[in-house]
Amino acid sequence: MAASSTIADKCMKAYNHVFNPSLFKGQVAFITGGGSGICFTIAEVLMRHQCSTIIASRKLERVQQAAEELSKVTGQRCLPIQMDVRKPKEVVAGVQQAMREFGKINILVNGAAGNFVCPAASMSFNAFKTVLEIDTMGTFNTSKAVFDEYMRDNGGVIINISATLAYKATVLQCHASAAKAAIDSMTKSLAVEWGPLGIRVVGIAPGPIDDTEGIRKLAGPLAESIPKRIPLRRMGTKVDIADCAVFVASPAASYITGDTIVVDGGDWMTAPNDAEMRLESMKSLL
Ligand code: HXC
Ligand code: NAP
Repeated sequence: MAASSTIADKCMKAYNHVFNPSLFKGQVAFITGGGSGICFTIAEVLMRHQCSTIIASRKLERVQQAAEELSKVTGQRCLPIQMDVRKPKEVVAGVQQAMREFGKINILVNGAAGNFVCPAASMSFNAFKTVLEIDTMGTFNTSKAVFDEYMRDNGGVIINISATLAYKATVLQCHASAAKAAIDSMTKSLAVEWGPLGIRVVGIAPGPIDDTEGIRKLAGPLAESIPKRIPLRRMGTKVDIADCAVFVASPAASYITGDTIVVDGGDWMTAPNDAEMRLESMKSLL
């Protein structure tokens, strides 16, 4: 399981292409949070379709290791960039560095996020603010920087990684639910404002995804029981989300904008959401 350490993820041993393997030849994707978890696999699968990538997050050593692994396995260029999405100056500098190296950014994936299990009653002011700043402000900061530096004049696709948390007010997730709901709203607003410039803005809302920091932090002792409750009877995989990102960035989705696509095996509609039960089972994480 991926840990919140400085150790980068490894690529898959094999990947079955559904789309044309040269789908993104000559294109460049900028991926925040691309050094680990779901967004590492998004980077890998885009690169397996001949896309060049930039992966950006706070831990330089991890994005460096991740970029090396991604390039070695896929044969495509990957530039690691250290930046904190909460800091506009760092974000603009990172995007400008990417522009100097590649001259374009056709796809932006806003995946950087922070989360933990916490009842609202014991959450500090700063804890709430921290998650909103990483998820929501980070998504705006990076979108605006990429817009200013490239997409305003050239169009592109922005993919916002969201969650289903806010669909039914998930307990112990007041901060992340608010942050992701705001992202979904931003997906709509930016799609409307930037659509005439040839920019599509689309969200992807994963359900519980196996072998990720997110599930390690949020599910705890409940992890084993998750597949049983999901209508499709399995956890999601990182590739499920990456394949959706490939579809969204491809011409097959050229008339889709402003929407957030749920990729969760039907989970949010049926998952239990009882505060007392979850508090009891999550004691070890609080
Ligand atoms: C309560 C907590 C807390 C916890 C931190 N805080 N962890 N409060 N419970 N477990 C509080 C701190 O006490 C502090 O408030 C404030 O949050 C900021 O904490 P810092 O550690 O200073 O922040 P920072 O170093 O910026 O780290 C941010 C972080 C961290 C979110 C807290 O966990 C992180 O970097 N996470 C990135 C990786 C991650 O979370 N990945 C999972 C994404 S999954 P005070 O008041 O003390 O100053 C995901 C899934 C969604 O999003 C849906 C799944 C189904
Ligand atoms: P993850 O591996 O922890 O990914 C989060 C990434 O964000 C990390 O690479 C982290 O790198 C980066 N990051 C955090 N704070 C940052 C900051 N301030 N600036 C720049 N980068 C920052 O977790 P994951 O589980 O794969 O989640 C990936 C995405 O999917 C997130 O948007 C998450 O909300 C979403 N999601 C996940 C699940 C799930 O089941 N896992 C479900 C629904 C939605 P650094 O620490 O190096 O900064």
